[in-house]
Amino acid sequence: MRSIVINQPDDWHLHLRDGKQLAMTVPASARVFARAIVMPNLANPIITVSEAECYRARILEQVPAGRHFDPLMTLYLQDAMSTDEITKADAHPCIYGCKLYPAGATTHSTRGVNNIEFIYPLLEKMANYEMPLLIHGEVTDPDIDIFDREAVFIDRYLLPICERFPQLPIVFEHITTKTAVDFVSQAPSNVAATITAHHLLYNRNTLLAGGIRPHYYCLPILKTEEDRQALLAAATSGVPKFFLGTDSAPHTTIQKESACGCAGIFSAPCALESYATVFDAHHSLDKLENFASRFGAEFYRLPLNTQKVEIKQQEWQVPAVVAAGEDKFIPMCAGETLTWQAKPILTG
Ligand code: NCD
Ligand code: ZN
Repeated sequence: MRSIVINQPDDWHLHLRDGKQLAMTVPASARVFARAIVMPNLANPIITVSEAECYRARILEQVPAGRHFDPLMTLYLQDAMSTDEITKADAHPCIYGCKLYPAGATTHSTRGVNNIEFIYPLLEKMANYEMPLLIHGEVTDPDIDIFDREAVFIDRYLLPICERFPQLPIVFEHITTKTAVDFVSQAPSNVAATITAHHLLYNRNTLLAGGIRPHYYCLPILKTEEDRQALLAAATSGVPKFFLGTDSAPHTTIQKESACGCAGIFSAPCALESYATVFDAHHSLDKLENFASRFGAEFYRLPLNTQKVEIKQQEWQVPAVVAAGEDKFIPMCAGETLTWQAKPILTG
């Protein structure tokens, strides 16, 4: 039986939601990940340090006994936010960055940023503190085709931000295109990117060919096979700018299986196993540890985890459905048999 042991990984982009859903989402991630950058796009977004503190406490209440899971909190940037909040965030030990959602780009982003230049004073402050800026990099202009929104964002907004704030650590989140891979590869070392398992596994045919499959609908939307190949090459390249961020984003079956379904793929129940599957198919399993357990921590200037996780070639079945109270969620790979299984190696 093939098996690898790696340092425990972290998830550098995660949606845990709130309320009773935390009882399901937190254990799903704490199962294998030691830390996660927690996205602030709740229905009432996390815009202050004290809201982030309370949200973190609610998350910690749901960590299963005997497991260790450290939620790394972020703030949701808004046009009118004060630079004092950035100063408070910098001084706070549990806040690791601020997230830029262009208003209207994705789930719960209506209260996001309307004009990126309005937040330049905030970015200036963050650059001074070297606090990471996490970017949902898609334009919202209705004239721009949904498949082009990431590429257009790079030219219109990302390039000017990078030029104006050369000290600012930037994570271009969940990149989906060859254009984004090329941009990040050529950018200076303060610019990195997360890559999801679903953008490595699937292309837009999975979503749209032979029937519309709402559980594969996410933003940024799945792209072409050429884009997927570029992401796979980046993730397995050993270049430290590219690291793991699942963007696991649960929505109930009712919200997904609808005439106007929500964007988001709930990958946490099989995330690490899915990365292992796709890295193995690309004969790059030896590159998984740095991608999953080293490069992100180094970018965020955090120590590596010391616990280990074993990933074995052993069949198991992803649950067809996961419940939280009365709500039901269909995970990525629902009901499928995966050939890699991950388990933490518990030590005293
Ligand atoms: C995310 C969500 O549901 O919060 N959805 C998604 O499709 N990825 C938001 C986001 O990261 O865009
Ligand atoms: Zn996300």
